[in-house]
Amino acid sequence: MTLLRPTDVVLTGDRPTGPLHLGHYAGSLSTRLALQGRCQQTLLIADLQALTDNAGRPARVANHVLDVALDYLAVGIDPTRTTIALQSQLPALAELTMLYLNLVTVARLERNPTVRAEIELRGFARDVPAGFLCYPASQAADITGVRATLVPVGDDQLPMLEQTNEIVRRINRLADAELLPECRPLLTKTPRLPGIDGRKASKSLGNAISLTATPGEIRTLVHAMYTDPDHSRVSDPGRVEGNVVFAYLNAFDPDGEAVAELEAQYQRGGLGDVALKQRLEGVLETLIAPMRERRVDAERQRDHVREVLMEGTAVTRRRTQAVLDDVRRAFSLPDFSSP
Ligand code: TRP
Repeated sequence: MTLLRPTDVVLTGDRPTGPLHLGHYAGSLSTRLALQGRCQQTLLIADLQALTDNAGRPARVANHVLDVALDYLAVGIDPTRTTIALQSQLPALAELTMLYLNLVTVARLERNPTVRAEIELRGFARDVPAGFLCYPASQAADITGVRATLVPVGDDQLPMLEQTNEIVRRINRLADAELLPECRPLLTKTPRLPGIDGRKASKSLGNAISLTATPGEIRTLVHAMYTDPDHSRVSDPGRVEGNVVFAYLNAFDPDGEAVAELEAQYQRGGLGDVALKQRLEGVLETLIAPMRERRVDAERQRDHVREVLMEGTAVTRRRTQAVLDDVRRAFSLPDFSSP
């Protein structure tokens, strides 16, 4: 894991298209909690990015903005130590995106592996919205807009950071100065948590466990988890690779030694899926119960949460405007606001 430097500036974001889930927690929310108070940190609710593939249902995006903020508070993000901001209220980011688009080619955007996979998953075929193809440039604006140096993400986002750094280097060459810093990813030990069926955990696939799942939902989802289809009797040896229950135990069970022993026992034979799933159910309930409670509290103070979001956005607006001023100068654009 990349070590934290005292001068690091952290930014990461989420598309508001549904409730956050354990995949987000394992991939990046847990890191954000650990970084809280140790450096400047901004969480961006990326509603403009969400629109790039939801333009036909904008209400869906709008309705989830506050939900994501509530989820942040539920996992323990503290707005006095972490800035929460809303992307569409930061016009400097849109202008930065416009400028950055001059520094990337369409071919490069089409080669971005994450964009390619998403185009496939969404079945866009030849009808890719231009805004969607270009969202890596907008994400570069998000990251550079606060001069972020460290970005906690799941491994699907690595191509975005690579493209961001390419843009940063071009800007710096243009300015003939270190105008913007390059960023590094911060990955967790579980940068990609599988969904309960073994595919990637995703809201759209419906295979993820939400951060506010009820005990009943946790039980149902854990019991439906994919294990080893050839492990039919308790005494049979079982496979650990590709076994979703072990993936979750490794991600969330605080007792790593016990999990290693269970793995060994499972592989030898003599450990049943039911016992294993019961353990996981307990682990997840312990993790999620305090989030569920904090979420209920936050729900009761929606107006306060809205204020938190507005304040965080105002702070971020000033930061992003200062970066835009620098980048505009690098492009030799005039400044009519000063004589
Ligand atoms: N693309 C990210 C995702 O789908 C969300 C995101 C938007 C983001 N802006 C960001 C992540 C900036 C890191 C940095 O999860």
